[in-house]
Amino acid sequence: MDSSSSHDYKNKQRTVLLTIMAFASVTLSLLLLAFSYYCYLRNKVSNFLKYSKGIDSDDKGNSHKTTQLITEEGLQVFTFKQLLSATGGFGKSNVIGQGGFGLVYRGVLQDGRKIAVKLMDQAGKQGEEEFRVEVEMLSRLRSPYLLALIGYCSESHHRVLVYDFMANGGLQEHLYPIKGSNAVPSNLDWEIRLRIALEAAKGLEYLHEHVSPPVIHRDFKSSNILLDKGFHAKVSDFGLAKLGSYRAGGHVSTRVLGTQGYVAPEYALTGHLTTKSDVYSYGVVLLELLTGRVPVDMKRSPGEAVLVSWALPHLTDRDKVVEIMDPALEGQYSMKDIVQVAAIAAMCVQLEADYRPLMADVVQSLVPLVKHQRQSSRVSSCSTFSATQSPRL
Ligand SMILES: Nc1ncnc2c1ncn2[C@@H]1O[C@H](COP(=O)(O)OP(=O)(O)OP(=O)(O)O)[C@@H](O)[C@H]1O
Ligand SMILES: [Mg+2]
Repeated sequence: MDSSSSHDYKNKQRTVLLTIMAFASVTLSLLLLAFSYYCYLRNKVSNFLKYSKGIDSDDKGNSHKTTQLITEEGLQVFTFKQLLSATGGFGKSNVIGQGGFGLVYRGVLQDGRKIAVKLMDQAGKQGEEEFRVEVEMLSRLRSPYLLALIGYCSESHHRVLVYDFMANGGLQEHLYPIKGSNAVPSNLDWEIRLRIALEAAKGLEYLHEHVSPPVIHRDFKSSNILLDKGFHAKVSDFGLAKLGSYRAGGHVSTRVLGTQGYVAPEYALTGHLTTKSDVYSYGVVLLELLTGRVPVDMKRSPGEAVLVSWALPHLTDRDKVVEIMDPALEGQYSMKDIVQVAAIAAMCVQLEADYRPLMADVVQSLVPLVKHQRQSSRVSSCSTFSATQSPRL
């Protein structure tokens, strides 16, 4: 073989080798791709099976089962029988409230844990959707400022949600207490109201800024702020919640849902939903805490019927803020505090959504107020204590 044909031969060899290597690496990449897709599908199917197992197993009459079924996310799957026994057969005497979803019952689990049980009253598309969103959202959200979902029951046509029991119920019951058929002054003092404002703000801050994509609550209102036995607040009811846009300042378009008096004007008009829609609703709750008035009261004169329109002109005027304060709070607050809280409320309910603050800003502004209020009540309770003790000295 002469030198040129040996060179040709070597070149050919190299080309064949390169082709084989290229072919091998493409095949390997395809195999890897196929394998990861297989893993992804397998994971999806197993999650689905786990979820449907939780939902359906009791349909097949598995009432003899004693072990409590738990979903991957840690939610308990109850049988309807278990919840019947926890609530005294959903007895009338155990009813603690009623909302759009249905009646709410007090109950006790076998391990002694107190629960609140929401029983869906009519199977409809809206109810089913609320049930599904509530379960899905609360499976992935964890914060001390959100009401925890313990579990659910989805047996044949029954849809039931099971929560931690909050001994002091909804905030609205304490802001607008009723005895017999008469409204009576609220016992909720200024220090507790300030702390509730802060804890509820922390709940929304978590939803908007600590999870990705952000969660827009869409039904933030005083009846969805629940109070435990020490009057600590937790935000509840995620049945209407939506995942927000990943883009800063982005919106999602949805049907307008929510509660009259709390819905942000731009959302009501355009259906464009952002976290700033929740900030507006938060501002309305702040106004309820300041004034002790409901967001819409058609029994009042036209100028006073809508809380935001009535309060807004007073909020940024130092001398006028006192005029809108809840009379039940008289003597409990400092001018400095109410001016600051009113200013936060004014920023939250302004028409221009972009100018409303982030919930993190609201939290930052409220923290020093709550701290200061706590310190001054400690000082005053100490001085009362020494005053009552003084005769003994
Ligand atoms: N976990 C709980 N612990 C104690 N009481 C609760 C609990 N959940 C709900 N409640 C009581 O039941 C009432 C009704 O709650 P529900 O969330 O069903 O309706 P709502 O908030 O008034 O209205 P909507 O259906 O529009 O949200 C609350 O105001 C509260 O008093
Ligand atoms: Mg509610």
